[in-house]
Amino acid sequence: RYCLAGVLAAALAAAVSPASADDLMKAAKEIFQPIPSLVPAVKDNAVTHEKVELGKLLFFDPRMSASEIISCNTCHNLGTGGVDAGPTSVGHGWQKGPRRAPTVYNAVFNVAQFWDGRAADLKAQAKGPVQATVEMNATPEHVVKTLTSMPDYVALFRKAFPGENEPVSFDNFAKAVEAFEATLITPASPFDQYLEGDANALSAEQKDGLKLFIDKGCSNCHSGVNVGGGGYFPFGVVEKPGADILPAGDKGRFNVSKTASDEYVFRAAPLRNVALRAPYFHSGQVWSLKQAVGVMGEAQLGARLTDKEEDAIVAFLGSLTGQLPQIDYPILPVRTDATPLPTL
Ligand code: HEM
Ligand code: HEM
Repeated sequence: RYCLAGVLAAALAAAVSPASADDLMKAAKEIFQPIPSLVPAVKDNAVTHEKVELGKLLFFDPRMSASEIISCNTCHNLGTGGVDAGPTSVGHGWQKGPRRAPTVYNAVFNVAQFWDGRAADLKAQAKGPVQATVEMNATPEHVVKTLTSMPDYVALFRKAFPGENEPVSFDNFAKAVEAFEATLITPASPFDQYLEGDANALSAEQKDGLKLFIDKGCSNCHSGVNVGGGGYFPFGVVEKPGADILPAGDKGRFNVSKTASDEYVFRAAPLRNVALRAPYFHSGQVWSLKQAVGVMGEAQLGARLTDKEEDAIVAFLGSLTGQLPQIDYPILPVRTDATPLPTL
């Protein structure tokens, strides 16, 4: 749970700055962890090759939506950093959703899913967008009926969930998608190489930026393997940003917990690959990373960063861009006469 005193105490503690280059690497190693090069395990769902291959088809299959034109990849485009064009997502019937699509890359490392953390894991998450009227506007029945209508899918579900009586189910749809998402990790960024001991992996400006990121207190909230994604904090600890960036109608975790102290509390955004996916914040209203850094300085730390400091931090954030997995666009099973028709 969020605690203001804790945040401030942590911010003060961080003001002790790493003095030498070695100290900087040591400090960084204590705060952040590299992205592993192997696919991580997920809870209650063995990540098998068969599930991953099936999940990949499902991720790209627009027929999981009522209109049959919207797939997960529509809003989480793997070619553009795992997000859509923004500012907020456009879903079924051209409806504008209230929030920016977060990236699916490295989402497996977040403590919980969504800007407000309302889904515990990727399995629970995957069931949401399919049914959300502003996203895919389908039902579990539509998904199962569509999948069952195509023999190739039925065979793939049997292989991915061997020994089960009803392999084609909405639960297994979610598990396969989760398994595919677990493979969407981006190791070997310059920052990962630095954390693994290569002092030359970062430029001098990136090191200055890293030092500022720690000294100023950004890393109190953006830490761990995803440089964020690990805890919840008010957006506007010190100073609330304007209503364009923080719209009054979206109270964040308050909607989940109904606790007054959770008003305008959001998950500290994971910053891996952040340079690839403007616009920023849950409202998607800030198109420049430099401006987003400035907003954070003022809103979260009450600090007005200089132009040079902002540039250095942006340079450091650029070092968080990792190696994106090579993904071949899948050829999907062919529809049959039994496949439900699209409804617009
Ligand atoms: C959030 C996956 C379909 C828009 C998320 C997250 C994941 C995800 C993993 C949470 C990421 C995080 O919190 O870091 C999927 C999958 C989909 C799908 C597997 C297909 C089954 C869509 C579609 C749209 C969309 C079609 C747009 C119409 C969003 C938005 C959020 C989100 C706006 C943030 C919502 C919030 O925080 O309240 N999605 N997504 N997603 N996705 Fe999707
Ligand atoms: C979001 C950077 C300090 C909590 C972000 C984003 C960036 C960023 C670039 C947007 C990411 C995206 O949209 O994908 C920084 C920098 C900081 C800093 C450079 C230091 C100058 C902090 C601190 C806290 C914090 C100290 C906690 C007290 C958050 C939260 C969000 C966020 C909650 C999500 C806001 C939303 O709802 O849109 N940060 N951050 N940040 N950061 Fe920071």
